Amino acid sequence: MNSRLAILVSGRGSNLQALIDAIAGSQLHAEIVGVFSDKPGAAALQRVPAPLRWAADARQFPNRMEFDRCLADAISVAEPDWVICAGYMRILGVDFIRRFAGRLLNIHPSLLPKYRGLHTHARAIEAGDTEHGASVHFVTEELDAGAVIAQATIPVIAGDTPDDLAVRLLPQEHRLLTAVAQLAVAGRLAERDGNVEIDGHRLFQPLRLDCEGNFPLRPASGA
Ligand code: GRF
Repeated sequence: MNSRLAILVSGRGSNLQALIDAIAGSQLHAEIVGVFSDKPGAAALQRVPAPLRWAADARQFPNRMEFDRCLADAISVAEPDWVICAGYMRILGVDFIRRFAGRLLNIHPSLLPKYRGLHTHARAIEAGDTEHGASVHFVTEELDAGAVIAQATIPVIAGDTPDDLAVRLLPQEHRLLTAVAQLAVAGRLAERDGNVEIDGHRLFQPLRLDCEGNFPLRPASGA
């Protein structure tokens, strides 16, 4: 049976689209059971049929906990196996994170642990980095600090602006998120005691995508 994915979005939804395309192309054996947003006007929502959309304006709630509870209840109804933050720009509270712990993933546009939070491209340029990238990690209570599963890198070229980096990184983000989702839905990915496990073995450093968009892993047993 296909794995059930819930996707959280706040904006344009190109990462969501990458997952939709991978499913349509049979590279990802999964079903999107809901797309959830803190921004009812998010363009990302339009990428899926109306019955799959859920959105509420976080500003209409008395506090973070109330919004998170409403969001979490809506997600639970969809019974996802994995919950993926794909350009979800709102900080998730502790109760939400505990509720989905171990099956909650996020894509972040930096080579974590560098540049948690916002403005990652500008910060990489200011620091004089020659390499930049994106990370997919398990979400834990500390912002952008959960165990990193995999990363994709791009070079920083002299004269690059933050927008240049964002544009160059985006296709890598799409490949990275799709590749991690493939591991997740194949049952190969887990979090144990704050560490990433692939096929039951602890990962000591994040996986890196090769130039074909694959991870240097043995095929899953039975594949
Ligand atoms: C991506 O760069 C993601 O890493 C960041 O926000 C952007 C979202 O892009 N957190 P999209 O909405 O998936 O197009």
